[in-house]
Amino acid sequence: MPYVPTRRYQIPRAFELLRINEKDKIIDLGCGNGQFLTYGAKRVGADFVGIELNVVLYTIARINKLLTRRKGTITIKHGNFFSEDLSKYSKIFMFHMPTQIKNILPKLEKELQKGAKVVSIVFPIESPKLRLLKEEGDKYKLFLYERVN
Ligand SMILES: C[S@@+](CC[C@H](N)C(=O)[O-])C[C@H]1O[C@@H](n2cnc3c(N)ncnc32)[C@H](O)[C@@H]1O
Repeated sequence: MPYVPTRRYQIPRAFELLRINEKDKIIDLGCGNGQFLTYGAKRVGADFVGIELNVVLYTIARINKLLTRRKGTITIKHGNFFSEDLSKYSKIFMFHMPTQIKNILPKLEKELQKGAKVVSIVFPIESPKLRLLKEEGDKYKLFLYERVN
């Protein structure tokens, strides 16, 4: 699949929906150019982590981090997010195709702590362990979930 970043206007919306505060540890699963992380870390002193498989995007995200005046921390990792333990994250940001969401879902169900929040860009996540809290947008949607049970 070609690289498709989240539409710019959706980044502040996702940030608002997640209600990020200083105690949060947030991960963008497949962070692309790091746009969500830089937007967030500019505004709140939380810990932002991004993992990106594509080395070019990883490098761009690293550069964007360096160009950002931040209140929070940003950590960009080069690698596969399937190797990351998600239990330490309170907030998850993700934008993936439905086929990829299906692959990620068992990991979200197994590792997320109760109360963790997930924003999925454009595509919904179907899981009895993720309760839909909010859905917004017309053509390009955002979905906010909470880990329950
Ligand atoms: C649709 S883009 C979203 C990029 C960014 N999160 C955004 O919203 O603008 C999905 C990204 O996930 C990355 N990706 C896909 N599978 C991955 C994996 N297993 N581990 C790390 N990154 C992955 C892709 O390289 C791509 O940059």
